[in-house]
Amino acid sequence: APERTLVLVKPDGVARGLVGEVLSRLEAKGLRLVAAELRTLTRETAETHYAEHSERPFFADLVEFITGGPLMALVVEGPRTIEAFRALAGATDPVKAAPGTIRGDFALEVQNNIVHGSDSPESAAREVKLFFPDLG
Ligand code: CMP
Repeated sequence: APERTLVLVKPDGVARGLVGEVLSRLEAKGLRLVAAELRTLTRETAETHYAEHSERPFFADLVEFITGGPLMALVVEGPRTIEAFRALAGATDPVKAAPGTIRGDFALEVQNNIVHGSDSPESAAREVKLFFPDLG
């Protein structure tokens, strides 16, 4: 069965004009776009989305960053989409991300790492519902 995941082009990626680049890589890989919206997150949505990190020292900065400008929220679908997108994105720390990955090619700092992708089927279900509650 096809699997869905939430992908965010974070505010740094939108500001740097990398939405098209990310979409090109997803589409070239064969992942199918099922929803897309440019929006600026409220603090409440950001805190809910990143609730698992609420005790981490970087949480306050992360919420400031992710609400600091428009981001592109996407739902993508395909076989093993969660794993497939995480491979395209590369390691969370862009310095450790392999060249050829989105983070490896375009980022240097762990916070400003261009994209987010759900890390498990459980978080994908939760995150897709948070961003696109009306998606069938
Ligand atoms: P993301 O995959 O969206 O999940 C949590 C985010 O927190 C991460 O990408 C980064 O944008 C941000 N972040 C900031 N500092 C750190 C850190 N030290 N470790 C992991 N994530 C961090």
